[in-house]
Amino acid sequence: MNIVRVKDYQDMSRHACQRIIATIKEQANPVLGLATGSTPEGMYQCLIEAFNKGEVSFRDVSTFNLDEYVGLAPSDPNSYNYFMQDKLFSHIDIDQSQVHLPNGNTGDNQQECKDYEASVHQANEIDLQVLGIGLNGHIGFNEPGTPFSSRTHVVELDASTREANARFFEKKEDVPTHAITMGIATIMDSKEILLLISGEKKAEAVKRLLENDEISEDFPASILRKHDNITVIIDEAAGSLLAD
Ligand code: F6R
Repeated sequence: MNIVRVKDYQDMSRHACQRIIATIKEQANPVLGLATGSTPEGMYQCLIEAFNKGEVSFRDVSTFNLDEYVGLAPSDPNSYNYFMQDKLFSHIDIDQSQVHLPNGNTGDNQQECKDYEASVHQANEIDLQVLGIGLNGHIGFNEPGTPFSSRTHVVELDASTREANARFFEKKEDVPTHAITMGIATIMDSKEILLLISGEKKAEAVKRLLENDEISEDFPASILRKHDNITVIIDEAAGSLLAD
């Protein structure tokens, strides 16, 4: 694991943004894996600014998002589809037909999972996958106990994850109970991974990820130690419980 320690959220976002721009410039048809949540918002803002300054174009980029709630239409303001349009896609020159998120509203989730998994492989895998981490070590919506061999599948969300995500909803009960997520094996197939971790709340998870040698399905992110091209960007608050 390549560890990059940065000062704060802004620094983390800027580093991640530069890495994405480099990937876009290196590849003829770059395939990006994207995440939602609070962690990548600053990175998306930085990408929009770079686009506005003419420093990068997304014309040849394809994207695959990690996950989507079950039961929310893409137009629902709480859906991840909406989030991505709002935070990034509607502000840049990406071809909308090259934007991919699982659709949790087709009525046939199993088929959707198969189709989504197949579309990632058809794209010749993800060049750079951006990840955040849950307090319980989840990546995507792969909660503790998810097999490392998992492919895109439907998950029941942990109470702690629903609690953490309730801030986006009017009422706690409105947080969907299920989601579709890329599997852990799908994520591990990415050619490169960028894991972003910011804030004191994530400090325990960072300590467990970096200072505990055990690779266990009880802490899904631990499998990332086995990836041969991963960079973890950690800000001071998130790294505050590390020994050094
Ligand atoms: C989001 C995702 C999740 C988040 C994680 C951290 O697409 O897959 O694994 O990355 O829950 O969320 P934030 O960034 O809100 O702390």
